[in-house]
Amino acid sequence: MSASLAGHRLLVSAGPTYEDIDPVRFLGNRSSGKMGFAIAATAAARGAEVALVAGPVQLPTPANVRRLDVRSAAQMFEAVMHELEQAGRPCDAYIGAAAVADFTPRRFADNKLKKTPGQDTLTLELVKTRDVLAEVAVHVRRPRLVVGFAAETHDVAAYARGKLERKQLDLICANRVGVGATGFESDDNALLVLGRDGFERALGPASKTELAASLLDLIMERLR
Ligand code: PMT
Repeated sequence: MSASLAGHRLLVSAGPTYEDIDPVRFLGNRSSGKMGFAIAATAAARGAEVALVAGPVQLPTPANVRRLDVRSAAQMFEAVMHELEQAGRPCDAYIGAAAVADFTPRRFADNKLKKTPGQDTLTLELVKTRDVLAEVAVHVRRPRLVVGFAAETHDVAAYARGKLERKQLDLICANRVGVGATGFESDDNALLVLGRDGFERALGPASKTELAASLLDLIMERLR
């Protein structure tokens, strides 16, 4: 029997961000939004009030979920902060499943970049984006529980543990991405959930919907 989330407010991020270079090109990543949408859908089905900040994905909005569509990392930052600051009462949990760009082009070119005769290379200058998750974790209206994800191609647990500490999170869900790994795009995944209190639990392999249910059980235990 799944724990009810009635009376709880959850803020979830999902999907990729697109960082525009010029009117026709952008820097993106392979996130489909499936993991974050499964979390939002399952939380809403358990009675939570759910706001979902979604990067550019084609997925339908889950039932009873309030969706805010964004494109870039800067827009995702603004939307999450707006939800945190404007809501009548604080969020109980923030779950950052989005794959937010770490860097964005310093300048947006108003016109399509053209190659010139004899040009063999193009250098793009990128600047760091603001870290949504890390700023949520130190916000004056910090949710009681801040849950991050870590998408890693190697040394998954070690890098995830570093992010858990550095970003001052309560939980982090580590998953493997890259060639042959299930993190991005697929319907299934496997998570290693680590807690600041030393908690450690492997979830899956399972469908992203089943993983969302198991993760929400862990979140519920901590909100109780
Ligand atoms: O969308 P799917 O295709 O279903 O794939 C699911 C997933 C692989 C995208 C998901 O399970 C996942 O791992 N999401 C986090 C991806 C990621 O960007 O990981 P990261 O290790 O680069 O970032 C660590 C954490 O910081 C993440 O919670 C991320 O949301 C957050 N972050 C990162 C940069 C930034 N500027 N702001 C952030 O909030």
